[in-house]
Amino acid sequence: MNDGDGTPAAAGQGRRFGPLGTALVIIPTYNEAENIKAIVSRVREAVPEAHVLVADDNSPDGTGKLADELAAEDDHVQVLHRKGKEGLGAAYLAGFRWGLEHGYGVLIEMDADGSHQPEELPRLLTALKGADLVLGSRWVPGGRVVNWPKSREFISRGGSMYSRLALDLPLRDITGGYRAFRRETLEGLGLDEVASQGYCFQVDLARRAIKAGYHVVEVPITFVEREHGDSKMSRDILVEALWRVTTWGVGERVGKVLGRDRQPERPVDTPDGPVRSTEEKG
Ligand code: GDD
Ligand code: MN
Repeated sequence: MNDGDGTPAAAGQGRRFGPLGTALVIIPTYNEAENIKAIVSRVREAVPEAHVLVADDNSPDGTGKLADELAAEDDHVQVLHRKGKEGLGAAYLAGFRWGLEHGYGVLIEMDADGSHQPEELPRLLTALKGADLVLGSRWVPGGRVVNWPKSREFISRGGSMYSRLALDLPLRDITGGYRAFRRETLEGLGLDEVASQGYCFQVDLARRAIKAGYHVVEVPITFVEREHGDSKMSRDILVEALWRVTTWGVGERVGKVLGRDRQPERPVDTPDGPVRSTEEKG
């Protein structure tokens, strides 16, 4: 049985989870000058006790400077200046490292453009009290998208479905970027080995969490398409996602054929084995 310190002695129900600790909301930015002030103030209002880390890749539009101004007037706001555009995955890895070094108990992923509504954050945090990782999900009952072009919805739903089948994951929204991790969960994912740069970073972390036997819960969210600025989605990001997911899927199947154990690497003590998603079991 779990000793209540938040370590994943068991993946499912019947676990006791430790207290959450202070949350750090990590917001990666690249050219979000029109959005940064509004998103930070919404986060500060929705979860006043949480801290914010803006991880800016030296945005040409001056987002980093605006973030510095916010940090100068609010001791709950910090800025991580990175030298150039290296992708969402690299920015989050740097942000996670910073947050773990600074002792935060919860690390949250959130887009800068308002697609992830800060007002929904308390619901994610409530769910995290009984989970190792919470995914904000567009594709579970109650979840939805607002103003998303049909083409984007098709790519996103298709990407989740392909990942779900290729990697055998019991999750509905595998590519989403609104998430809350316990620090112990991040520490157990092998972040040093993560090579994903673009949006497939999200698939990579979800996959690692399930494989490690963590209790992953999907909470419905309303994803609102940005009003200002542009999406950084590109053909390169799609190609990286497709080849990485396919490579992981083939690797796992080959591993199975060779008789490698695909059980969680951690002991699980629920009577029915690991319960990995509240939405769906198996
Ligand atoms: N630092 C940094 N570096 N930030 C970046 C980079 C980068 O190279 N690329 C994107 N970002 C930031 C954006 O500034 C924004 O805050 C956030 O990452 C998401 O980027 P968007 O360009 O708005 O993503 P999207 O709306 O197309 O995609 C959303 O859906 C994807 C698929 O479901 C996001 O929620 C993604 O996380 C998600 O994978
Ligand atoms: Mn967006």
